[in-house]
Amino acid sequence: MKVVFLSVSWPREMQDYVRGLAAVGAQVLGVGSDPVHGIPPHVRACLHDYLQVPNIMAEDDVIARVSAWTRGTTVDRVEALWEPVVILAARLRERLGCPGMSLDTVMGFRDKQLMKERVAAAGLRVPHAFRVRSADDARKAAARIGFPLILKPIAGAGSADTFRVDDAKALDAILGRMGHVREASCEEFVEGDEFTYDTVCIDGRPAYENVAQYLPRPLIARTEHWISPCIVTLRDLEDPGLKDGIALGRGVLDALSMGTGFTHMEWYRKADGEVVFGEIGCRPGGAHLVDQMNYTGDIDLFVEWARAVVHGRFEASTARKHHCAIVFKRAHGEGVIHHIAGLDGFLARNRGHVCTEQLLRPGSRRRDWKQTLLSDGFVIVRHPDLHQCLRIAREVQEGVQLYAR
Ligand SMILES: Nc1ncnc2c1ncn2[C@@H]1O[C@H](COP(=O)(O)OP(=O)(O)OP(=O)(O)O)[C@@H](O)[C@H]1O
Ligand SMILES: [Mg+2]
Repeated sequence: MKVVFLSVSWPREMQDYVRGLAAVGAQVLGVGSDPVHGIPPHVRACLHDYLQVPNIMAEDDVIARVSAWTRGTTVDRVEALWEPVVILAARLRERLGCPGMSLDTVMGFRDKQLMKERVAAAGLRVPHAFRVRSADDARKAAARIGFPLILKPIAGAGSADTFRVDDAKALDAILGRMGHVREASCEEFVEGDEFTYDTVCIDGRPAYENVAQYLPRPLIARTEHWISPCIVTLRDLEDPGLKDGIALGRGVLDALSMGTGFTHMEWYRKADGEVVFGEIGCRPGGAHLVDQMNYTGDIDLFVEWARAVVHGRFEASTARKHHCAIVFKRAHGEGVIHHIAGLDGFLARNRGHVCTEQLLRPGSRRRDWKQTLLSDGFVIVRHPDLHQCLRIAREVQEGVQLYAR
C-alpha cells in the first residue's frame, strides 16, 4: 500500500508515525518542507520516496506538486496527523481520488462552529455559541449568551487568543486585542473539570479509547506562569464519573462521520455531573499525549494507528495498567537555565515510576511557555494507583525546580 504522509519530520512525533507505517509494510511517500538530508537517517530509512515542498502550508502549491509527483502511481491513502495540514490531506485525497475522510467531513473537525452545529444536531450538549466576524457581532452574541463567556478563534490551537470574558468592559478590551482574528467563536463559559477523550478509530468505530484529565484546565495553565501543568491519563475507563463523557465522545464520532485514524476530543464535566462537548480534532493530542497513552498500557500506538490505516486492524491490548501523568515545568527567571534543584532526590525516591524525564539541561535557553505547553521540559510518571500517581506528579510540581538567568 502506498501512503502519502504530510509533514514527515515536523512536529517531531510525526517521525514515529512514519516508523509505524513502515513497520506495518506500507510504502511511505513522504512530503515535507525539510531538505531530504535534513531528515534524520532512521526516518529516511522508513521512506519509500520523498518530496520536498517550499511551504507545506501553501495548499494549492502542495496539491499541484504532489499530483505531478505521483502521476502514474496509485496512491492508496493520504495521511496527516498535524492539525494545520489535515485540510490539505483531505483536499489531496479528493484530488488523487483515494479513500479516506472527505473535505466536508474533515471541516467538521477543524471549524469549531461547524463542529458544534453538527454535534448539537445529533442531540448532544455543546456550549451555547455564535460565530462572530466583527466587534459588533461579538457584542450581540454576548447579549444573548450572557457573562462569563469565552471568545476564541474558529480554527485555534494551543489556547492562543482564547479569553474568558467576565463583563462588557472586559469584552471591549479583549476585542481591541483580537483585531487580527478573522473569525471567532463566542461561547457560554462552561464551569467544570476538563478531560480528553482520545481514540484510534477504524471506519468510525473506536478500536482504542483513552481519557485524560487536565490539572488544572488548559486556559488557566496557559495563563499562570507559576503553574506546572499536569495531564493524567486515567486507567479506569469504567469509572462512573467518566461514563457520560465517553458516551458523549462516541456520539460525537458518529455525528461527525469519523473515518479511520486518531481523534482527540476535549469535554467538560460540570459540578452537577452534566457533560458538555468542548472540541475535537481528527488527529492525536499533542504535548506527548500519545506517549502517555503508550505508557498507560505498554503499547505502541504509532504502529497501531498505522495498522488501522493500512490493514484496518488494531492488534495491541486495550487493557490499561497505569494512571500516567505528565508534568510540564517552567523555570524561574529568564534566559538560560543554570540549575535544576530537587531532581536527583526525586528520581531516587520514585525509581520504577518515572517513564521519562526530559527537562532542559543547564546551558539551555528557556522555551516560550506561552508558545509551547512543553515549556522547559517535562517528566512522565505512572502508577497503578491514582492517588500515588498524583502524589508523584505533585513531587515534580512542587519539589523539582529549574532556575534561569
Ligand atoms: N466554552 C468554554 N467554556 C469554558 N472554557 C473554555 C470554553 N472554550 C474554551 N475553554 C477553555 O479554553 C481552552 C482552549 O480552548 P479550545 O480547546 O477550544 O482551544 P484550542 O486553542 O484548540 O486549545 P488546545 O489546542 O490547547 O486544545 C480550553 O481547554 C478550556 O480550558
Ligand atoms: Mg483545546
